[in-house]
Amino acid sequence: MFGRVKPLDAILATAEKKSLHRSLGAFQLTMLGIGAVIGTGIFVLTAEAAQKAGPGMMLSFVIAGFVCAVAALCYAEMAAMVPVSGSAYTYSYAVMGELVAWMVGWALILEYAIAAGAVSVGWSGYFIGWLNTSFDINVPHALVRGPFDGGIINLPAMLIAALVTALLVKGTKESASVNAVLVAIKILALSMFVILTLPVLRTGQFTPFAPLGFAGISGAAASIFFAYVGFDAVSTAAEETTNPQRNMPIGLIGSLAICTIFYMLVAAGVIGTVGAQPVYGSGGEVLSPGTPALSQACAAIHENAVVCSKEALAWTLKQVGWPFVGWLVGAAAIIALPSVILMMMFGQTRIFFVMSRDGLLPEMFSKVHPKFHTPHIITMLTGVFVALFAAFFPVGLLADVSNSGTLFAFAAVSIAVLVLRRTDPNRVRPFRTPAIMVTAPLAILGCIYLFFSLSIETIALFFGWALIGLVVYHLYSRSRSHVGRGLIEVHEEDPDAPPQPVPPV
Ligand code: ALA
Repeated sequence: MFGRVKPLDAILATAEKKSLHRSLGAFQLTMLGIGAVIGTGIFVLTAEAAQKAGPGMMLSFVIAGFVCAVAALCYAEMAAMVPVSGSAYTYSYAVMGELVAWMVGWALILEYAIAAGAVSVGWSGYFIGWLNTSFDINVPHALVRGPFDGGIINLPAMLIAALVTALLVKGTKESASVNAVLVAIKILALSMFVILTLPVLRTGQFTPFAPLGFAGISGAAASIFFAYVGFDAVSTAAEETTNPQRNMPIGLIGSLAICTIFYMLVAAGVIGTVGAQPVYGSGGEVLSPGTPALSQACAAIHENAVVCSKEALAWTLKQVGWPFVGWLVGAAAIIALPSVILMMMFGQTRIFFVMSRDGLLPEMFSKVHPKFHTPHIITMLTGVFVALFAAFFPVGLLADVSNSGTLFAFAAVSIAVLVLRRTDPNRVRPFRTPAIMVTAPLAILGCIYLFFSLSIETIALFFGWALIGLVVYHLYSRSRSHVGRGLIEVHEEDPDAPPQPVPPV
C-alpha cells in the first residue's frame, strides 16, 4: 500500500531549479499570514458559531487557533524541507506513498475549491447587505441564497467566483502592495469594530455561556477552524525566508496569535452588545445553521438576531448605533474577501496541476495557455465547480466540508513529519518543529478531535468523497501514474509559486 513513493530527491531537484531570493523576514511573513487568513470566517461564520455555541464560541476560537498553531509548526518543517508546489500532497507522496498522497490531494480539493465557494457565499452576504444599505435595493432571497437557506440560487456568489476565475485565467497574482493594502483594510475594519463595541459591552450577555454545552463549543470550534485556514501560505514561503529557523515560527505563530486575539475581541464585541444566544425552533429544538428550519425561525423574529445575519459584523454595528461604520465594514469585506477566494482557487489549480503532471489526473489539466501562461483548462473547470457550490450551498456547510479536507491534510502532514524524522533523520531541515514528539501528536489528535466535532452530515460527505476518490484512483489513476510506470521526471519549472500572494514589501 505504501510502496509507490516518489523519491524526495527527485522532488527536491525540481525545487532546486528555481532558487528564489530569500527576502522575507518575520514581519513580512506575519503580514502574509494575516492576509491569507482573515476572511469569511470572522466576517460571516461568527454568526454560525454563535448558533452552535452561544457566547462559548470565544473558547471555540481558542481551541481552533491552538490546533492550527501546532499543525502549522509541523507544516513548516515539511514546507522548509520540501519547498515545492503541491504542499501536503507532495509531502505525502514522498513519505507515505502514492495512495496516501492521492487521498490527501483528493481531500485538498475539498479544502481549496469548497473553501473558495464558502468565501464566495460569505462575500455575497455582505454585498447584498451593502447594496441594501447604500441604495435601498432589496434583492429577493430567491436570488441571493441557495435552496438550503430559504432561496433558489445565490447569484452574487456565482458572479464573484466567475470573476475571480477570469482573473486567474489571465494570470493575475496579487502584487505586494495590493496585499499590504488589503491586510490594512481588514485590520482597520476589525479594529473599528472592536473599538466601537467593547466599550458598550454588557457582561450579562455572556450568560448562559455555553447554552448547548461543551459539545456545542467543540462543534463551533470545528466550524470556526475555517477562520484560520490559509496560514499554510506562510509555511509555503519557506524558501523565500531569511533565517527560516527563527522567522518561520514567528511568522506562523505570530499571524495565528494576532488573528486569534482579533477574533476573540470581535467575538466578545458581538456577544457583549447584541448577544449571541442561539435561536431555537418553536418546540425549543436546537436548529443547525444553514437550514430551512433556521431560516424560518429567523423570519419569525424578523431576522432580529445576529445568528440570522449574513453580514454579522456590519449588522452588529448597525444595532449598536453605528450604521455608517457598519457600512464601511461591509465595504471592507466586499473589497478584501475576493483576494481570499483568489488564493484558494489558485491553490486548487496548482494542486490539480501537480497531480496531473504526476499522471494521476488527465494530462489535459496541466496544459498551459499559450498567451497567459496559466493552466487555463483546470482553472476554468475549477471555476465552474466553485461557482456551482457557491450558487447552491450555504456558507456554513461549505466551510465545514472544506474543514474536513483540511483537517485530514494537516493530520497527514503531521504524521509525515514524524515518519520522516525516523526514516531520514540526516536530511537537512532548514526549520525543525520544536518539541516534535509533543507538537506532532498534539496536532494529529487536535485534527482528529475537530474532525469528529463536525456534523454527522459533514463527516458522511467526507467519507463519501473519499470513497469516490478511491474508486477514481483504482479505475483511472493507478495505472497511469508516472511513478507507477517508472517515470521519475525532474521538471525544469515548478509550476508556480505556492498558493499565496506576493508578500508585502
Ligand atoms: N480563513 C479564510 C476565511 O476565513 C479562509 O475566509
